[in-house]
Amino acid sequence: MTDSIYLALDFPDWNEAYEFIHTNHLHGVPVKVGMELFYKEGLAVIEKLKENNHKIFLDLKLHDIPTTVRKAMTVLSSLEVDMINVHALGGSEMILRAKEGLEKGNTKLIAVTVLTSMEQSVLSEELKIQDSLMDTVVQLSDLAKRSGADGVVCSVHEVEKIKQICGKEFLTVTPGIRLLNTDMNDQKRIATPSYARQTGSDFLVIGRSITASNNPRKAYEQAVREWEETTCNLTVN
Ligand code: C5P
Repeated sequence: MTDSIYLALDFPDWNEAYEFIHTNHLHGVPVKVGMELFYKEGLAVIEKLKENNHKIFLDLKLHDIPTTVRKAMTVLSSLEVDMINVHALGGSEMILRAKEGLEKGNTKLIAVTVLTSMEQSVLSEELKIQDSLMDTVVQLSDLAKRSGADGVVCSVHEVEKIKQICGKEFLTVTPGIRLLNTDMNDQKRIATPSYARQTGSDFLVIGRSITASNNPRKAYEQAVREWEETTCNLTVN
């Protein structure tokens, strides 16, 4: 097991999530809880996972006016999860207030830059953002850092540049991970666990490459093996 790989628990309810963990002997692995499971089960799902010794990334991607986000974070901070996130597009004031809401605990604040399901054409043609996807991600990371975030969610391909601008200690959490020979699904900016490690990613989020595999336990072990057997080539300080 490694503390660096978060399994995305994208299940409709606790029974299915627990059944998956139990059947595949994934007790105690770090997990990411997203909107689907959290909206269904509420705060109780976090308590259950904590009782079972899982590290938790609560992926609710808050994006609202600064005061609302601060108050929501104050409520969520009592859960004492390891990481929680907001959208960097909410702006500096919102990120600062989110951090304020978390002030009393040790929960790390992570800002989502550009979702890994998005590609350049969505940015330029639909959202009319003129900058390249890479520049947009790096600028949002810089904004997040200056506003007090501890790290960002980005794709593996952006990690190196983010670390150059924001420093090695600024955390990068990377979804869009695919094991060799698995489906891309709706993700666009994808990479393998090994490539993620090489480029300096701090944490991986892996969902369907494991959950939709014929042998999830084996897929999880493969991801851990790839991660642990690869050395990081990042050269920034
Ligand atoms: O199944 P897959 O490995 O694509 O799952 C990725 C998980 O990471 C999903 O739960 C998704 O919501 C989440 N995520 C993401 N991109 C982000 C932030 C979170 O894919 N920028």
